[in-house]
Parts: sequence; C-alpha cells; structure tokens
Amino acid sequence: MTSHVLFLMASACSQEQKLIKKPKMYQPIFEITPEIEQHFDSSLRVKAEATVEAIALSKSISTATSQQQVELAKASGWGTLTDIWVKANHQGNTWQHRCHEKLSQLLTQTEIQSAKSATATAYQTSFEVIRAMWDILKDIGFTGGAIIEPACNTLAFMGCQPLLMRDRSQWVGIELDPIFAQIARLLYPEALIYAQGFETVSLSDNSFDLAIGNVPFGNYKLYDPRYAHLNLSIHNYFLAKCVDLVRENGLICLITSCFTLDAANTSFRRYLASKLELVTAIRLPDTAFKRFANTEVVADILIFRKLTETEQRATNQRNYKYPDWVKTAPSGKHTVNQEPIMINQWFVE
Ligand SMILES: C[S@@+](CC[C@H](N)C(=O)[O-])C[C@H]1O[C@@H](n2cnc3c(N)ncnc32)[C@H](O)[C@@H]1O
Repeated sequence: MTSHVLFLMASACSQEQKLIKKPKMYQPIFEITPEIEQHFDSSLRVKAEATVEAIALSKSISTATSQQQVELAKASGWGTLTDIWVKANHQGNTWQHRCHEKLSQLLTQTEIQSAKSATATAYQTSFEVIRAMWDILKDIGFTGGAIIEPACNTLAFMGCQPLLMRDRSQWVGIELDPIFAQIARLLYPEALIYAQGFETVSLSDNSFDLAIGNVPFGNYKLYDPRYAHLNLSIHNYFLAKCVDLVRENGLICLITSCFTLDAANTSFRRYLASKLELVTAIRLPDTAFKRFANTEVVADILIFRKLTETEQRATNQRNYKYPDWVKTAPSGKHTVNQEPIMINQWFVE
C-alpha cells in the first residue's frame, strides 16, 4: 500500500515520473455525472425511491454497467432517509410506507438494524464540498497516492477526484453499512472496500499518503483497545486512527464536528499537535449539508500534515510551545447568558 509519491517533492518530479502504472480496467472509470448531481437536488421522496431502486439493483448484480452505476450512485445515506423508518407505522399509501414495504422485502433483519442505526450518522457530503476539498489538496501540492476514506458510504470522494490525480491513486474505503459498502464496490471495482467498522479494520501504520472523508459525528464512543486511553468521541477516534495510518508528511483532510476544534478540554488537540501540523481549517455554515443531506450541523474541514519523526520528537521538549489552534478564545461576537462563546483560536484570528 505504500506509495512513493511524496507530495512535498511533487513539484520537483516530472509528470511521467509520478505516474503509477495500473492494470487496464475492463470498464470505463465511473465519475459523478451532472445527472447524479441534479438528482441530489430532488425532494426527499424522489431520493428515497431512487435509494430503494439502487439497493434492489445492488442485490441483483455482481458487476454494474455504466448506466447501472448512475442509478446506484443516486442512493442517499440512511441519515437522509430517516422518515422511512420513523414514519413506518403510518397507514395509507404514503411514499414512506411504500419504501418501507419494499425495503422490508429487500433487506435482511441484520441489514434493517444496520440501516436504522446508520440514520444517526449516514449523511453524505455534497459534491460541491468534496470538489472544494480536492481543489485545496491540489493547491497544496497533492498529486495522488495511496488514499483511505474511513467512513466512505458510496465512496463519492473517489467519484469526484480529479481524473489525473485519480489515475495516480489507489483507494481503500471502509463502510460499516453492508448495503452501502456493496454499492461502493459496484461503483469503484478498482477500490478495496472493507464492509466493517473502522475500529475493527487492521491496516499498517504509515501506509497512506492521504486520509480523506466526512467522519461520523456523535457524542458516543467506539471500542478500540489501542485508543481506549484517549477516551474519544467517535469523530475524534476516526481522526486519531487516521493519524497512525498516514505516513510522515502525509495529509489528513476530514470533515469533522466543530467540537474537535472548539471543545473546552484541550487534551485531544494537544495529542494531535504532537503529531500533526494544522495546514488549514474551514468552518462550514450549518446549512452546508441541508439541501444535499437534509441535516443542519456545524462542521469543519480540517487539513493536517503528519509531522516527521524529528518534528514529533521536538514537540516532546519541555520548552515546546503548542500552536494556537490547541486553544479556544472568546468568539468576540456572540454571548450566551452574557458569557462569551468560546471557539477555536484559529477562527478568532
Ligand atoms: C457522515 S457519513 C459520510 C459518508 C461519506 N464519507 C460522505 O462524505 O459522503 C458517515 C458514514 O460513516 C459510516 N459509519 C458509521 N460508523 C462507522 C464505523 N464505525 N466504521 C465505518 N463507517 C462507519 C456511516 O454508515 C456513514 O456512511
């Protein structure tokens, strides 16, 4: 899995030197098309019905044609489709009821349980935001390499990756929900998809050039003995594990809860600062996921570079001064009960 594409050296290499040779694919590479983009502007009913169709299709084929891939890519995450389960007991001929009936026939009991538990976290990122993330990575010199998306849903980050960069990349996706993991496999057969929890996946440390994605947020924890001493909420756990999977000078580009940077307790950010440099942080408006995934949440895009071993050792020195993004400060503008709202110093500046 190790790639020899050192992004810091990218500008010094010729295009030919950086190209990673790949076996010829037996079908065209699948990309997110304008038709798929437009679909995500549709009503909840249209999205739910397209998802049921995509699931039925995914269960009936082992490889997908280009047209089938377009239909599969229209599947929405379970978070957007909560109504199907919440309004399931409604009588009558509603779309929720019809979708519920069809899913009950298509899915096993285990898959239904998985779908219901995924409603808390399975909100897809809009293609617009994903493309903006690729633009930033391109601007800072990332040209391709070994990439992991640790909570990948349908692996749309791969479908939106600029083609030249994608040609130089090898992908690994992890998705807990078996239905969406299968859809990701049908869309991107060249990627290696693990249908299991990130906390149970065993991959070598320092083996990726980039970890990218939108991690599940929440005030609950996963069990992984390696990180148990850090006592992390799920979003911070994903970040901590990515720190170890990425190589020195490799990049982490994740959408995470605003609490990663804003939490009053600085211990996790001190842990991060001993291993990472914050390249940039962008706070998304709470409406960023509304149109696409029907949710309002404050989230940040965080881009980190993993420190070299020498740099990491320097952070252990007694006179080491933590960077400002470890601390929070009054936002300056807003108060609650006349108390200032504390946000990360990065955003205050
Ligand atoms: C916020 S969504 C993001 C999906 C996708 N990365 C995107 O940006 O469109 C989070 C995804 O994480 C998956 N997930 C939740 N818990 C997980 C776990 N423990 N391991 C792997 N995936 C998980 C959910 O099923 C969901 O698809």
